Amino acid sequence: MYNSGKIIPGIIIFLAIVLFPFWSNLGKANVKPEPKIDTPVIQQMPVEERKCIEPKEFMKAGHMQMLNDWRDSVIRDGNRVFVSSTGKHYNMSLQNECLRCHSNKKDFCDKCHNYLAVKPYCFDCHIEPKENKS
Ligand code: HEC
Ligand code: HEC
Ligand code: HEC
Repeated sequence: MYNSGKIIPGIIIFLAIVLFPFWSNLGKANVKPEPKIDTPVIQQMPVEERKCIEPKEFMKAGHMQMLNDWRDSVIRDGNRVFVSSTGKHYNMSLQNECLRCHSNKKDFCDKCHNYLAVKPYCFDCHIEPKENKS
């Protein structure tokens, strides 16, 4: 009736292709990303001041919203100064502020985003920092 000699290998190949993203990630998928903060600018900060703009937990959960707010503020209101909860002033700029400290986009932003399969499209326009491939 049917040619099992072709169908079964066919099914195996089909499954191998469909499941490739899963088995190629075996052993990697559960490794939590560890965004690196060892950039030159951050290393130069005194240890006790080695902080982000806002507390780490806030940044982890809220950086997307913060960037949205920054963009709106700059583009709609022409305001480029962000005053943090501790009263520090920052330049509301993705390239010139976030990436001034986090100049290792690949080992920082991308580490998390790739893990979670989030792909911010920001760098279609905004310039990425030049990094050595490592
Ligand atoms: C003045 C330098 C500086 C600037 C500017 C800065 N960061 Fe940070 N950022 C840090 C440091 C240092 C840490 C690590 C903080 C800690 O461990 O408490 C950090 C932590 C973070 C974290 C949490 C990482 C983790 O391991 O969970 C995120 C997310 C983040 N930053 C995103 C941003 C974004 C987005 C911007 C721009 C809106 C920005 N940062 C601007 C220095 C900076
Ligand atoms: C600690 C992990 C982590 C780090 C480090 C991190 N992000 Fe994210 N980012 C996330 C997560 C998680 C999301 C998705 C949140 C969601 O979908 O609600 C996200 C989403 C975003 C978004 C929104 C994308 C969208 O399509 O909605 C932007 C923009 C963004 N991140 C920018 C940055 C930039 C720029 C950096 C580096 C300066 C950075 N992130 C570093 C975890 C991280
Ligand atoms: C289609 C191109 C384009 C894309 C995609 C884009 N932007 Fe922008 N963005 C601009 C332009 C143009 C400006 C205005 C630059 C200025 O006036 O300094 C700007 C300004 C900004 C600013 C304030 C000024 C600065 O220097 O950063 C922020 C913050 C910002 N964008 C964040 C984002 C984020 C976050 C994403 C991704 C979720 C994103 N943008 C995607 C074009 C883009």
